[in-house]
Amino acid sequence: MNNVATARAPGSIPLERPKQIVARADALLYLHVARPDLDKTTKFLTDFGLLVAARQGDTVHFRGVGENPVIYSVTRADRPALLGVGLSVPDRESLLALAKESGATIAPFTGPGGGEMVRLRDPDGICVEVVYGQAKAAPLPSRPPIPYNAPAQTVRVNDTQRPPLAPPEVTKLGHAVLTSPNFPRKVQWYMRMLGFMPSDVMCLPDATHAGAFMRLDRGATPSDHHTLFLVFGASADIDHAAFEVIDLDAVEMGQQVLKAARYRHAWGVGRHLLGSQIFDYWRDPWGLKHEHYADGDVFDASQPPGLSQAGSRGPVSVGPGFARRFRRRAAHSWPDCIAPARRDAWGGAAAPVAGRCTQHARAQPTLAALSLSSSGCVNLLAWTGTTLVR
Ligand SMILES: [Fe+2]
Repeated sequence: MNNVATARAPGSIPLERPKQIVARADALLYLHVARPDLDKTTKFLTDFGLLVAARQGDTVHFRGVGENPVIYSVTRADRPALLGVGLSVPDRESLLALAKESGATIAPFTGPGGGEMVRLRDPDGICVEVVYGQAKAAPLPSRPPIPYNAPAQTVRVNDTQRPPLAPPEVTKLGHAVLTSPNFPRKVQWYMRMLGFMPSDVMCLPDATHAGAFMRLDRGATPSDHHTLFLVFGASADIDHAAFEVIDLDAVEMGQQVLKAARYRHAWGVGRHLLGSQIFDYWRDPWGLKHEHYADGDVFDASQPPGLSQAGSRGPVSVGPGFARRFRRRAAHSWPDCIAPARRDAWGGAAAPVAGRCTQHARAQPTLAALSLSSSGCVNLLAWTGTTLVR
């Protein structure tokens, strides 16, 4: 697996999992971000559907209605940034194995629920906190999924559909999308260190890999189609965070509430082609996209990976076409290597300054292959079409 051009047909290069896997993560726990204004951030997140769980100094922890005591943490800082991604492992042996492999030490997890953790750095330097022994919280009351009548399936009689006008209940943090100028190394690291496995691999016309929807390997227990989507991009960054809600009505309710509060909409409502989620994307005050989703695919470990390439079919199976405003980068996404004068031209207009840094130098060949140079090396989410190879 590499990104050197070949003459092979799309889909002909499998994304091989490493033979030696250090540990198998079993859940995505939380994201940790920095924001300059905690009140403003808290207002957005609670309008989005998260609940304040605890405050520790300059950090606010948020939860959903599920059993995880924290799914999002925000620390006050001068600049918005991604501070870390939290995952769990099912046993202490996994934590020990990760500590031994990485040289990191096992330390107390001081966030809600406690436990122990090791702090790793992925190949791009993104902090990955792996937690074991965190105590679960009691789930909070939430409305049950709406029973939908269908022509041949009447499940609701003498009853109505009137969900409350309120932010949708978030059940969990579902996935994060991370961009990388060194996708091959990054995807191998997550497979080897944390056992991730590919659900759908995105390839270029020359068959090389450029992105992968990765799920947790939980054996016979189904996992979400993707917990991480790792994709080639100009810089190491987060593209969006996705949160599961109860059902389609909750996704629509989220749009209604966030639109009324005049937040910036990015894309939706639609149903994704890869993963099948019904989705809707909204930006926080610093431009980071937050996704509401429902009804995603779940696969157990026996499901082989699918392959797709840039093509004629849009990235949705139902819903609006790819929104240009979805491509704009978040405020914290500007790589420091981009000259300030060029920054306001991003978001679909100007090319990055090639050669200004090694990350861009590495990214250029693949981005050129995708004809994305005129739109900046935003990331491969700028693909306007997808063709399923298998
Ligand atoms: Fe997503």
